[in-house]
Amino acid sequence: SQKITTSKIQAMKGRGSIVSLTAYTKPMAELMDPFVDLIIVGDSTGMVAYGYDSTLPVTLDMMINHGAAVVRGSQKACVVIDMPYGSYQESKELAFRNAARLLTETGAQGIKVEGGLELVETVEFLVSRGIPVMPHIGLRPQHANTMGGFKAQGRDEAAAKRLVEEAQAFESVGAFSVLIEGVFEAAARRVTQSLTIPAIGIGASPECDGQVLVTEDILGLFSDYTPKFAKKYVDLSAQIKDVFALYEREVRAGEFPAEEHCFGIKKQPT
Ligand code: KIV
Ligand code: NA
Repeated sequence: SQKITTSKIQAMKGRGSIVSLTAYTKPMAELMDPFVDLIIVGDSTGMVAYGYDSTLPVTLDMMINHGAAVVRGSQKACVVIDMPYGSYQESKELAFRNAARLLTETGAQGIKVEGGLELVETVEFLVSRGIPVMPHIGLRPQHANTMGGFKAQGRDEAAAKRLVEEAQAFESVGAFSVLIEGVFEAAARRVTQSLTIPAIGIGASPECDGQVLVTEDILGLFSDYTPKFAKKYVDLSAQIKDVFALYEREVRAGEFPAEEHCFGIKKQPT
């Protein structure tokens, strides 16, 4: 099957048309690839896989390593990598240098940046130089320190209007889609309807053109921090713990390894 491009994602406008999940590793990317259009290598890996209490400590090298692993595991899905905190805010030139590394050192097709109107010039600079960009608006975890924590956005008229302005500004400078996180339904609907590019939502109602969730949340593999929108489809943590407990019992009881797991053990005469 053919690789889905960012242009293809851009053309997938319409409620619920885009299916997306996050991945940080090759095996997880491989498992989801047949079912998703877009894999986002999120800096949520800092919290989910490294145990940090925010995404701020995530570095460009971490994102390059995870991005390359995910690209190796994906045949079909479009792969977009998060730019980590501090790698794009300072100047458009710095943003370009780091975004170029993310694409050239991984083979991913696009990058994602968190921001509002202050970031429009940077997005234009990147897109005009060949880098597909997905701006991330609404609840922006990299900005939790200035946003009063992880709180839903776009509650009142002024806030909804600002989200629409930001999304339209990003569309006008060539963003291929926008990600909207933690946004009230009415605002999410207005943002989605005001764009010709798709709005992919996380915690932003079914009004969006697509949905994304953090994979470890839906699998029940991460519970340090669970937002309202993180639907848990299965409790894999419980299943994994059962296996570890069984392995422990078998080793201590001398039941593992059995004959079939060993080299050169003679069959016992019966
Ligand atoms: O880091 C992350 O997992 C994200 C998701 C919203 C895609 O940014
Ligand atoms: Na992120």
